[in-house]
Amino acid sequence: MANSTIIQPNKGHYNIAEELPSWEDFSWKDIETNFSWSQTGKVNMAYECVDRHVEAGFGEKTALHYIGEQEEYKLTYRDLKEKSDLWATVLKKRGVKKGDFVFVFLPKHPDCHIAMLAAIKLGAVVGPLFEAFMEDAVKERIQDCGGTFLIASPELVKRVQRDQLPSLTTVFITAEPEQCTGDEISLFEEARNVETEENIIEWVDLDHGLNIHYTSGSTGKPKGIIHAHRAMIQQYITGRWVLDLKEGDIYWCTAHPGWVTGTVYGVFAPLLNRTTTVIHGGRFGAEEWYDILERTGVTVWYSAPTAFRMLMAKGDKLISNYDLSKIRHILSVGEPLNPEIVRWGIETLSNRIHDTWWMTETGAQLIVNLPSEAIKPGSMGKPFPGIEAAILGEDGEILEAGAVGQLALKANWPSLMREVWKDPAKYSTYFPFDGWYLSGDLATIDETGYVFFQGRSDDMINSSGERIGPFEVESKLIEHPAVAEVGVIGKPDAVRGEIVKAFIVLNKEYQESKELLEELRLFVRSGLAAHAAPREIEFLEELPKTPISGKVLRRELKAREAKKSSDLLVNK
Ligand code: WTA
Repeated sequence: MANSTIIQPNKGHYNIAEELPSWEDFSWKDIETNFSWSQTGKVNMAYECVDRHVEAGFGEKTALHYIGEQEEYKLTYRDLKEKSDLWATVLKKRGVKKGDFVFVFLPKHPDCHIAMLAAIKLGAVVGPLFEAFMEDAVKERIQDCGGTFLIASPELVKRVQRDQLPSLTTVFITAEPEQCTGDEISLFEEARNVETEENIIEWVDLDHGLNIHYTSGSTGKPKGIIHAHRAMIQQYITGRWVLDLKEGDIYWCTAHPGWVTGTVYGVFAPLLNRTTTVIHGGRFGAEEWYDILERTGVTVWYSAPTAFRMLMAKGDKLISNYDLSKIRHILSVGEPLNPEIVRWGIETLSNRIHDTWWMTETGAQLIVNLPSEAIKPGSMGKPFPGIEAAILGEDGEILEAGAVGQLALKANWPSLMREVWKDPAKYSTYFPFDGWYLSGDLATIDETGYVFFQGRSDDMINSSGERIGPFEVESKLIEHPAVAEVGVIGKPDAVRGEIVKAFIVLNKEYQESKELLEELRLFVRSGLAAHAAPREIEFLEELPKTPISGKVLRRELKAREAKKSSDLLVNK
């Protein structure tokens, strides 16, 4: 582990160094004074993200710079305030009120920001859905919390099975009436026909629900993680000190708000810091990404190792066609950042890539590489000020430097999840030892406090930084008539970190074939989501199981996979 290479910060590159307080004096309470609510105690995330800046005279500053396939435009902070007020008025008229669940199923687009902010203005709990989710994934999430409201695009709403979602009474479409069907409401038309209500903002308590993200573990269906408005304290200050966001910055976070990174560091943190955010509609493409970086003049860029690896694989010659000299700060999240990528960043982008670690449940970054500090490639960094991290052994004992155990954090930071929806028992499983939040990640901490990721302690799969529960994929596959038994694991992969691999025992009447392989992959792809579809499928006569309960031993499948890497029945 402890890599001896240390990479010092490029002084002058960062705005932050001169501002950082001495960490001994750090207190979350002091951060609160940046917000108006520190006097009143009542708060609204959307106000702090948008309205506050307009009131302070920054209404003309660009908030969002959208680059889509068909169009490109900018919205100022004033535009964002007016639009979110207007949409909030429409939602309110149609019955959205404090505490309701409002799901948002939109592609990466300013409408997604506006919809989220509008729902939050009313004190609703917003549930952004990943744009690649298919029918089952969407249904399970809305069903689980009995969601009543949905804001969707005409394309994505086709994946919402209304007949199976009785709780979902009201569906708004971000389009004109011609593109709506049945009882769907055209948000555009309604917005033209209402007067924006004054003082539309619902002021809520700090611990009032703000957003819900469904996230996977190794067992069970995805669980609904609920965060509260209080999270803004940490989301704001990590935006300032870790992302190093300042007045002139152009910032790009490549994640979709359906993932927690896209919500917290794609919507909240940059707006809280009054930053200009780039939104790119669509998925990865090396040429396209370099073009966006150059054209919009991105200065701060937050992405993920898989994307960096894909860019690396395209070669350095391609990069030399673009002027990327405006970039001054790069960050990574979601999966292990290989030292090789850090070196590539320095050589080709003249920037260190700063790893950050956190989880849906933690609500904001916890382990970080502050721009002003030395980086040890291979390490995720050190705990953010105010965060106490430790490596715990099986009985909750704190292990010494260098030992591998569970990464745990003293559960006292503002953005920690408030609730696992309707599942307090699940919530308490995160806190088996007094006061510690247990991450499920294995790690070590070296003598100087740098944290090194070692793997997961459970079967959760991390493919391209997207968190996939093996149970969810297994449950889908078992619905297919050909499948008698199935075990799903994450298999190490050079580009994606891990890929989903399924081991399948076929029902007697079925024979293995290339067509069947393809059909099974498509079955998951079109039911759940593309990223959940197994890239590899292997047919077996039987699966290893626990002798008593007969549960499939994923661990054994993983061990077998590690032993052999070739001569598989592979379908890539
Ligand atoms: C993994 C994403 C290695 C980890 C914000 C964690 C990482 C899970 C890193 C959470 C990192 C996140 N290095 N692994 N820097 N950051 N992970 O909930 O296993 O989608 O538990 O949140 O991603 O994924 P989630």
